[in-house]
Order: sequence, then C-alpha cells, then structure tokens
Amino acid sequence: MNVLFKNIKELIQVRESSVNFLSGKEMSILPTIKNAFLLVKDGIISDYGIMGKCPEIDIKTIDATGKMILPSWCDSHTHLVYAGNREDEFVDRINGLSYAEIAKNGGGILNSAKKLQQTSEEDLYNQSKIRLEEIIQLGTGAVEIKSGYGLTKDAELKMLRVIEKLKENYFLEIKATFLGAHALPSEYKNNKSGYLQMLIDDILPTIEKENLADFIDIFCETGYFSVDDTQQILKAGKKHGLVGKIHVNQFTAIGGIKAGVDNNVLSVDHLEEMRTEDIEVLKNTKTMPVALPSCSYFLSIPYTPARKMIEAGLPLALATDYNPGSTPSGNMNFVVSTACIKMKMTPEEAINAATINGAYAMNLLEKVGSITKGKLANLILTKEINSYNFIPYSFGNHCIEKVFLKGIEIKK
Ligand code: NIG
Ligand code: FE
Repeated sequence: MNVLFKNIKELIQVRESSVNFLSGKEMSILPTIKNAFLLVKDGIISDYGIMGKCPEIDIKTIDATGKMILPSWCDSHTHLVYAGNREDEFVDRINGLSYAEIAKNGGGILNSAKKLQQTSEEDLYNQSKIRLEEIIQLGTGAVEIKSGYGLTKDAELKMLRVIEKLKENYFLEIKATFLGAHALPSEYKNNKSGYLQMLIDDILPTIEKENLADFIDIFCETGYFSVDDTQQILKAGKKHGLVGKIHVNQFTAIGGIKAGVDNNVLSVDHLEEMRTEDIEVLKNTKTMPVALPSCSYFLSIPYTPARKMIEAGLPLALATDYNPGSTPSGNMNFVVSTACIKMKMTPEEAINAATINGAYAMNLLEKVGSITKGKLANLILTKEINSYNFIPYSFGNHCIEKVFLKGIEIKK
C-alpha cells in the first residue's frame, strides 16, 4: 500500500537506524520531527522529513494537520488466546482472597486450562480473534502470544495452532511462545518432573517439526516452577531452536533472573519483586527486562521498580500481559499511562519502552518499533493533540484516530 502523510504536527520516534535496544539515560530521548511528511511504499516506510522536503507525487495523501504519527505499540507479552473469562475470581479477590489462595482452590491457571481443554480449536480462534482485533484498534502493531492454558499435549498444540492461524489472517506481526510450564496440571500433582519430561519429550519435538513457536517460557515462581526447572526447560527449548523468555519475580525473588541471564534469555518479564542482586545480574547483558504495570494494577501488587532499574543503566520494555487471570486488558495506551503515573517513567521513557524496547523483546527490531526507512508502516495516527505528553496523560482513554498496518488503514 502506498500513502503519503502530509503536515504531520510531530512525527515521533524517528531513528535513522535502530539496531539495538535503549537503556538507562538513552531511554529519556525521544527523537521527533515537527511539521513532517511520511511516505509509505508497498507497506514499508520509504521516506520522511520536514514538510519543506515533501515530494510531489501523485499517490493517496492523508492530511495530518494538528495530528501526530508514531510507530504502533509493540506488546511483547500476552496470553490473548484463552477460553472464557474469570470474573468470579475477580470478585473473590475483592472479597479478600489472594491470587495464591484462589489458585489453591482450583481457580487460576488450572481453571482457564479446564475451560480451554473443553473448547474447540475453531471456537478458541473465534474468541481470540475478537481480542486481537480489539488490540489492533488500540494501536498494537506487533504482539507476542503465549500458550500455557492447555497443559496437555493436545490443548497446548491447539493454542499454538490458533496463534498460527491468527498470524496467517492478520496484518500485525505475531510471535508465538510455548509456555507449557505455566502451572502443574492436577494429573501430575505429585509428579512435576514427569510433567516437565512430557513437555520436553512429547511436545517440543512436534513444535519444532511444525514450526509452531519462536520462544519458550516458564513461570519461575514459588509454588509453580523452580530455578532448576527453569534451567531444564530453557535448555530443552534451546535444543529445539526456541529462544527463552521467562515469567519471573512476580510474587517472590528466588534467583530466576540469574538463571535466565545464564541461559541468554531474550527477556525476563514481571519483575514486581526486585532485589539489588537481580538488578546487578541484568547489567551489560542482552536480556530485556519487561514490566507489566496493568498486572500490578489489577492484582494490587507492587509495580516493577522502573526508576531504580533505569537509573542503574538497565533497559526496560512495557507490555500488557493480556490474560484472563491477572490482566484482562490488552490496552497498551493504559500501560504507557500507568508506567508514567505509577512507575514514574517519563513519557519519553514509556514510549521508548513500548515501541523500540518491546520490538527488541520479540526479536522484531528490524521490522517495527520506530519510524525508520525499511521498517513496516505499522503506525498510529493520533487525534489533534498539543504534545505527545497528552498520550500518557489521557489515561483510561486514548488519542488514536486511525491505525495502519503495512500502510493499510485498519477500519473497525
Ligand atoms: O503473567 N503469572 C503467570 N501467568 C499469568 C497469569 C496467569 C493467570 O492467572 O491466568 C501472568 O500474570
Ligand atoms: Fe504473563
């Protein structure tokens, strides 16, 4: 698709090249061009600059007077393929039960797994595509989606096939993650090693053969999977060509971050509980820390200590964690606002974390995350706004007028 955007009030996140993530002080710089044009050819960003240099060509033109353009959000952590919802547990929490107590009573991940096992692949696809279409309208142009609500070979593969089908049918970038080690199913209640062996011997070879996943993940947490389990799963995933990404330090800090870094994981996600040594171990590594502020908001748990981490020189990405238990929302606009309001990230840091650093956390930096020649024209066109600070300021709402994927306007 070819399109020329003219008179853009401010073109945001313009980078001549972007080959690496942003860390520490770099995160406070958000390069922009005021009164700009942006040229898209064949769905790719082909040129941009000040209006004075705008080419005179006869193609579809969009006048963006008073409006801004930024790259689509890159949501590097979701579980948006799931069956049914868990609003009863939400009420249980209001009435005083904790996330752990609900899980102990058969709720939590096992509750979602039961629902998903009883749902056909077609129905699961239809439920999930509604959420995918919703996040596209909220400005997401690249998303990672995990399995992990199947917990049997059939149901895990069903989830991964649904993700595959979403990939085929939608224009946004999608990466798939195998999260078989999300919780221990009741059939394996006293046999955790048997379950892990089943994931490794039975499911991983099929995933590799059918090319059903890019990444492997595990919930490294007290009461779920240990640091040793994490090492085992990451190593097995690597043998089958899967890069690691882990759920870690959500409720307790048990040394999982070091295990992740030792295994060169692409990202460590959650990080609500961070000790000094957890921050230290992430320094000068290629592992992206990912914060999920909507999860903290919804569960009323601590927020990832973004200031401490950025001031220690670390990078940080922001993602939604869209899932039926801890974050029934895939709204990256809310995530960016919440990061500013609750984690004291500046708008520049939050936008960098939700675009470039999110793209890195999905191995998609070559394709998305910035306004760079050669990247996909996955774009957000804002309503008329005075400054980009309005984007996080308008929390609970959003200032998106239109979204584009590969230069094509995606209408509701
Ligand atoms: O990232 N923490 C582990 N997994 C999900 C929540 C799973 C659920 O409650 O369904 C998360 O928060
Ligand atoms: Fe998650």
